Amino acid sequence: MEATIQALGVRKAFGTRTVLDGIDLEVPAGSIAAVLGPNGAGKTTLLNILSTLVAPDAGTVTVNGHDLARDPSAIRESISVTGQAAAVDEVLTGEENVTMMGRLNGLNRAEARRRSRELLESFDLADAARQRVVTFSGGMRRRLDLALSLVATPPVIFLDEPTTGLDTRSRRALWQTIHGLRTDGATILLTTQYLEEADELADDVTLIDGGRVVASGSPGELKAQVGETVVELKTHDGELLAAVPTDGTLPGLRAAINQLEERAAPGAAVSLRSPTLDDVFLHLTDPAAGQATTQKAFS
Ligand SMILES: Nc1ncnc2c1ncn2[C@@H]1O[C@H](COP(=O)(O)OP(=O)(O)OP(=O)(O)O)[C@@H](O)[C@H]1O
Ligand SMILES: [Mg+2]
Repeated sequence: MEATIQALGVRKAFGTRTVLDGIDLEVPAGSIAAVLGPNGAGKTTLLNILSTLVAPDAGTVTVNGHDLARDPSAIRESISVTGQAAAVDEVLTGEENVTMMGRLNGLNRAEARRRSRELLESFDLADAARQRVVTFSGGMRRRLDLALSLVATPPVIFLDEPTTGLDTRSRRALWQTIHGLRTDGATILLTTQYLEEADELADDVTLIDGGRVVASGSPGELKAQVGETVVELKTHDGELLAAVPTDGTLPGLRAAINQLEERAAPGAAVSLRSPTLDDVFLHLTDPAAGQATTQKAFS
């Protein structure tokens, strides 16, 4: 079956600066995909292209079976995008905002009320529902933004850094909401700076750097590419001196320890742990690690 979101050879330059240099991406129906990358990697630009806000210079995009070049308005009808909700009305209360958005999306009055209560509850805004938005804190506004973008649940949902600026509790609540959307059949593409978030949420992760896809796969697959085990060297008060991924074999471990020997300080201790997505990210996007490391880790 054709993927719900499909990008092939997407390119975009702003002036002379190439921001996306041939991106391929496929998100199967009913799955959650995360796009990861350092600041300026092109994540937002990619999301803007997929959601019809920015035109690509080259490449093909289909979303929910619609071709971007031929039928962008059909794509717009199939998606929701965060940020859209710059439509927050400061004079209205939180509840009024969400209810109004529900009405605009074709819900009847009772449905709009019910959905509003549900969303305000799940974003921990129930107590503030009757307050005017003008009195909301930054985090509350952010949560209201997200609630608004989820009033209607179209088949495809784009979320650009949905949990940036949220506290831990709100972040977990949003994760739950996102899992729930997938359970209901939505296909979700999100960007994030939080590796833990990608690990928690995503079926597939696409890592982009310098406008290109540098790795993709499930969180488990990506971690397995880094190695079986990471050997860490820490000072006696716990400061990390070095982390070297290994294949988990005895010769691999020996080689890692030899490598760490150069960095050893008096009293430094060695420990082993499983790889995280952070290891994948750093190995593939750290300029200091360079091409050699990339090839070593991914050959
Ligand atoms: N409209 C524009 N005009 C010129 N340059 C742009 C424009 N939009 C984005 N860029 C540049 O394109 C590059 C990628 O930007 P983009 O916002 O896609 O990155 P990002 O991965 O989302 O970064 P962040 O993690 O900081 O959100 C950046 O160097 C940015 O300055
Ligand atoms: Mg961005």
